[in-house]
Amino acid sequence: MNKRKEEKNLEMITIKTISTSEFESLSFLEGQKDIPFEIKRIYYIYGVTKDSKRGGYSHKNLSQLLFAFMVRLEFFWMIEKKEILLDSPFLGIIIKNGIWREMVWEIDNSVLCVAASDYYNESDYISNYNEFLNYKKEGYWNNES
Ligand code: TYD
Repeated sequence: MNKRKEEKNLEMITIKTISTSEFESLSFLEGQKDIPFEIKRIYYIYGVTKDSKRGGYSHKNLSQLLFAFMVRLEFFWMIEKKEILLDSPFLGIIIKNGIWREMVWEIDNSVLCVAASDYYNESDYISNYNEFLNYKKEGYWNNES
């Protein structure tokens, strides 16, 4: 997968939001309309302390939307690292397949929410970075549109 393809597989979105009063807001999104896949699973991670790191894997096929307040995403390409801080409740990031990610909590107790394109499947994870690099070198993700 070349760099352009990787960037295509990583997209920041602004989740539709309405102000319901002076200080309150409501954000919403719909599968296949606001994000490019049907949502089959929701999960969320909470009770995490500041500076904790989770993740450290790529997916073979799964696409996900992540949203959180004050969680930093770190992405490791073959040649460069990219970081995105989710610093607004209406920001989301779509991570498609073939992207190695780690998540760092910038504050205590932030909730990381994930909408996923498929049911939980342990065999869809690549949790070893060298194995991930081998998948890329072998062109595992090259033939997708
Ligand atoms: P894991 O993916 O290792 O968490 P993290 O992304 O933070 O590294 O998941 C932790 C445990 O939860 C593991 O035993 C698998 C289980 N799990 C499910 O059963 N269903 C799910 O949808 C997810 C995401 C995890």
